[in-house]
Amino acid sequence: AQQIPDILSPEFATDPYPAYRIMREHAPLIWHEATQSYIVSRYEDVEYVFKDRHGEFTTENYDWQIEPVHGKTILQLSGREHAVRRALVAPAFRGSDLQEKFLPVIEGNSRELIDAFRHTGSADLVADYATRFPVNVIADMLGLDKADHDRFHGWYTSVIAFLGNLAGDPEVAAAGERTRVEFAEYMFPIIRERRENLGDDLLSTLCAAEVDGVRMSDEDIKSFCSLLLAAGGETTDKAIGGIFANLLTHPEQLEAVRRDRGLIDRAFAETLRYTPPVHMIMRQSATEVTLSGGTIPAGATVTCLIGAANRDGSRYRDPDRFDIFRDDLNTTTAFSAAADHLAFALGRHFCVGALLARAEVEVGVNQLLDALPGLRPADGFDPAEQGVFTRGPRSLPVRFTPSAA
Ligand code: HEM
Repeated sequence: AQQIPDILSPEFATDPYPAYRIMREHAPLIWHEATQSYIVSRYEDVEYVFKDRHGEFTTENYDWQIEPVHGKTILQLSGREHAVRRALVAPAFRGSDLQEKFLPVIEGNSRELIDAFRHTGSADLVADYATRFPVNVIADMLGLDKADHDRFHGWYTSVIAFLGNLAGDPEVAAAGERTRVEFAEYMFPIIRERRENLGDDLLSTLCAAEVDGVRMSDEDIKSFCSLLLAAGGETTDKAIGGIFANLLTHPEQLEAVRRDRGLIDRAFAETLRYTPPVHMIMRQSATEVTLSGGTIPAGATVTCLIGAANRDGSRYRDPDRFDIFRDDLNTTTAFSAAADHLAFALGRHFCVGALLARAEVEVGVNQLLDALPGLRPADGFDPAEQGVFTRGPRSLPVRFTPSAA
């Protein structure tokens, strides 16, 4: 039997893909002592858990996974409670609200970051751009103070570290809980003020909303904002790092995208399949469930390896190849709940921000390619991803021909 690197080992964090392959082929259902969970890695099993057609899974795991940092969010809710709250924010992330109201916010934030380095001829696309852009956008959509962009960035970094703290490091846990307190102290006065002066932003929508005739509490609104900042920031940050890492290491595909911007969607969809920002999502089994890899008892935590499922050879041909032209990935449905890759999950909790992420990536890639002619890897370029729960390149040093804003 082949040795499977543990998901908490440094070897796995450096390159999980060989381990994913062994799991899919030889150990599709593993009991993992350290996380007290069953790990599933095959496409058909992860898809089955996410779709949950028979009501066999809950998201109770989020009670301990995110509640200590965010409070109660829609990820912990189900049924009508979940649907009603999700419907409050969903319109902002699609259709005319996204296109007319928020597209200028996306374009403005991207341009501001690019203008700070375009004249220099070099940049780190992760530190100078990707880690800043999406969180700034969601903060502006909420109507929070632009002067506090750095604080939001700091907070979401600590929230995500908490989520990824599978090994249970007490310092990371304590930092996450401190963040919840600090964020609440920051948000409560703003929420009270906004209730008195409603505006055209997403925070005002939440403040004005009634759920079954009752206004949402300050605590509920604060938790919602906390989730939106982290979910909208960290993931799209990794996605932008990912798409540039993939394109810069496949220069002919970068050239194709540069020439035909209609290919950005394809490049993003393939990035979500090949290097998904979120590698793991957990669920709780409500009943005993039999998957292709074996049977899970009722009341168990299930760790779904999105990163493994998206490279399942029984679903995608030559799965370890990054190919924006592949014909076995549906790029038309890639940002909807009918997606065939699993990067946004599927079913009830399918990412509500998928179209926002797509708009950000489209604007970001277009503006960066326009502003940075001759974009190429710089010395020290290392596209290797970091992380276990969420993954993305740590830095992407690039060079280009300087240009004035
Ligand atoms: C849910 C990934 C961008 C907000 C999810 C889930 C995944 C995911 C995997 C499902 C969690 C689960 O089922 O347990 C991603 C990726 C993104 C992205 C890969 C970028 C490429 C965004 C953006 C926002 C957002 C821009 C906007 C604020 C949310 C929210 C949920 C969610 C609020 C919870 C939905 C629910 O419980 O109904 N996302 N996300 N995400 N995402 Fe995203």
